[in-house]
Amino acid sequence: MNGDGKVDTESGRAAGRPVAFVTGASYGVGAATAHAFARAGYDVIITARQRENLKATLSVLGQTGCRSTAVELLLSDDSSIDAAFRVALEAYGRIDVLVNNAAVNLRRLAVDVSREEWREVMAANVSGPFFMTQLMGQHLIAAGRPGAVVSVASTHGLVGAAERSTYGISKGAMIQMTRMLAIEWAAHGIRVNAVAPGRMETASPSRAGTGANLDYMAAMLARIPLHRLVTAEEVADAIVYLGGAAAVSITGHVLVMDGGLTAA
Ligand SMILES: NC(=O)c1ccc[n+]([C@@H]2O[C@H](COP(=O)([O-])OP(=O)(O)OC[C@H]3O[C@@H](n4cnc5c(N)ncnc54)[C@H](OP(=O)(O)O)[C@@H]3O)[C@@H](O)[C@H]2O)c1
Repeated sequence: MNGDGKVDTESGRAAGRPVAFVTGASYGVGAATAHAFARAGYDVIITARQRENLKATLSVLGQTGCRSTAVELLLSDDSSIDAAFRVALEAYGRIDVLVNNAAVNLRRLAVDVSREEWREVMAANVSGPFFMTQLMGQHLIAAGRPGAVVSVASTHGLVGAAERSTYGISKGAMIQMTRMLAIEWAAHGIRVNAVAPGRMETASPSRAGTGANLDYMAAMLARIPLHRLVTAEEVADAIVYLGGAAAVSITGHVLVMDGGLTAA
């Protein structure tokens, strides 16, 4: 398994367990989702750009007794996408749930967005998740098995906001991918759903600037009807629900988790 240097660690093996593949599991929603799937009885494959960033997540997974594998994945690189999916399938033989969580965040006025930044966000947040999802669909259709895709979008993919155009456009595309593929793949028993969280407190370095700005955070809380931020753990539980058998009748759905912010 370590022949190509992509796989970091494996622990505990149990035949016949369902398998979840979670992108961007270094911290925040991705790490919480990996842990939630492990608690729900899944084996878990996790990814990050830097494999060493997955050590903490992998260590917690190891304590649950599930089988887990860390794989390097760069969503802007086609060969990296193909290799990560192939390594996961060779190791586990099946993938039951794909979670498109990894993303690039960009806070920038539209007039200031460089073409390089635009391409980076679209590659990581739209093209990469689409190609991952395409591989998942090809795998499930060839195997003749049902399965699920859950993508982590954002309220910025649903409503307008200043300084968020590039990121919001990418998340809007992810939401539309969810609806399109839900219809196209329903006949194969493949469900495709998304969650759309509002602002969370995660360890994401790309959000550290606003997270540390107490005035910004206080103003945001004041606008949220429930006066609380959704947590990574709450989003993770919703992802496990949408990916699992209890959601067998749900496809093409976007679950908004924002304390009521976009309901107003
Ligand atoms: N945090 C929020 O307030 C918030 C709100 C709404 C929606 N969301 C969405 O929720 C999801 C998780 O957010 P988060 O704040 O927990 O973490 P995040 O900063 O959005 O994502 C971090 C993870 O994604 C990986 N990653 C970043 N760019 C990548 C790329 N180009 N290719 C492959 N992997 C890449 C990182 O790997 P490395 O560790 O190696 O860098 C890390 O594992 C994202 O889809 C985000 O857009 C977040």
